[in-house]
Amino acid sequence: MAQALLGRTQQVPILDEKVADVDTRIIRMGEPYKDEALIREAGEIIRAGGLVAFPTETVYGLGGDALNPASSRKIYEAKGRPSDNPLIVHIADMEALAAIVKDVPETAKKLAAAFWPGPLTMILEKSDLVPRETTGGLDTVAVRMPSDAVALAFIRAAGGYVAAPSANRSGRPSPTCASYVAQDLDGRVEMILDGGDATLGLESTIVDLTVEPPAILRPGFITVEMLRQKLGRVEEDGTLFRADSGQAPKAPGMKYRHYAPEGELVIVRGPAEAVTAYIGGKLAEGRKNRKKTGVIATDETVGMYQADVPRSVGKRADAAATAKGLYRILREFDDEGVEWIYSESFDGGGVSQAVMNRLLKAAGHKVIEINEGGTEI
Ligand code: TXA
Ligand code: MG
Repeated sequence: MAQALLGRTQQVPILDEKVADVDTRIIRMGEPYKDEALIREAGEIIRAGGLVAFPTETVYGLGGDALNPASSRKIYEAKGRPSDNPLIVHIADMEALAAIVKDVPETAKKLAAAFWPGPLTMILEKSDLVPRETTGGLDTVAVRMPSDAVALAFIRAAGGYVAAPSANRSGRPSPTCASYVAQDLDGRVEMILDGGDATLGLESTIVDLTVEPPAILRPGFITVEMLRQKLGRVEEDGTLFRADSGQAPKAPGMKYRHYAPEGELVIVRGPAEAVTAYIGGKLAEGRKNRKKTGVIATDETVGMYQADVPRSVGKRADAAATAKGLYRILREFDDEGVEWIYSESFDGGGVSQAVMNRLLKAAGHKVIEINEGGTEI
C-alpha cells in the first residue's frame, strides 16, 4: 500500500497555456426571453468554429461543430485530450441522426423511441458527413440526443450537430455544474452556458450497435436490463467492472485513467461492518502519518469515520443519489488537498454498476477485498 502511494504519478496532463487566451463568458440560463438571444449567440460561436460549454442532464459538455474538423481539433486542444479518443455527436432530432450515419438500424430506432432524448449514446457506422477528426479516426460515430432543454435549444442554434466530450480537463472528474467547467476550462472556451446542477451527474450509457449482439461500452442510467428489454441480447464489456479482466476496453476513452482525484483513492469491499472497521484503521494510520484523509461513505456510515473530509453520497439504497454526488465529492477532495481517500464499495445492480465503474477508474482499480474478520483477502 505505502509502495503504491509512493509510486503514484500525476496523471492530469499539463496543458499548453498558449491556448488559454480566450475571454470566457459565463452565462446564467433561466430567463426564457433572454435565454433565446443568448442561445442564438452561443450557436453562432459554434457555427463560426468556436467552443461553447453547455449543460446536459448527465454532465456538462465542451461543444464544437461536429462537422468541422478544425473545431474538433480545438476541442482536443482545449481539453488536453489525446486525439484518438473520439467525441460524441449531440443532435436534437432524428433527421440529424439519419444524416450522420450510414443507415439507422432497427436496434437504433427501438432505443431512440424508448430512451431519446436522454442519457444514452449509440455507436453506429458514420456517414461521409462526419469528419474523422470528430471520430478519432474511426469509421463509427457516437451519437446522443440529450434531454436537457438548454442543450436541445443550443444544438439547434448551432446547426444541429455538436461534438462534445465532457467539459473537464482530461483526467479530471466530469463537471456537474458550470463553476467546475470554469475551474477547468476558463480561457479555453468562448462561452459557458450555466444551466445549474446536472440532474443526473454521471455520463451517458454507451451502447455499440455495430456489433452483434450490441455491447455496452460504458454503463450509465440506462442499464443493461433496460437495453435487454428492448433488444434481447446485450453484452457487457468484461473490462468495465473488474480490475483483473486483463482485456483492453472497447471504448477508446475507457483505456485512459479518468475521473482521477489528486489524492490516492482506494476502494474497500467486504461485509459492511468489517469495511467501516478497516477504513477506520486506515484513517488512524493516515493521522499518524500526517496525511489529510477523506472518506466516501453513505448516510448510514459517514458519522462513524474520523476523517478530515468525510463525505456521504446519500442513502445506500439510493443509487441515483450516489451517481449524482460522486464527481462533486471527488472534486471537493482536490479542493481540500486530501491525500488519502478511502471509499466504501457500491455493488448493487442497475445504476450502482455505473457508479462502481467510475469509482474503479478514479481509483485506478485499487480495491482491497476484506473478509468478515477484516483481513485482506
Ligand atoms: O453523458 C455524456 O455522454 C457526456 C455529455 C457531455 O453528453 N459526454 C461524454 O463524453 O461523456 P466523453 O467524451 O467524456 O466520453 C465519450 C466516450 C469516450 O470514452 C469515447 O472513447 C467513447 O465515448 N466513444 C466516442 N465515440 C466512440 C466510437 N465511435 N466508438 C467507441 N467509443 C466511442
Ligand atoms: Mg469524459
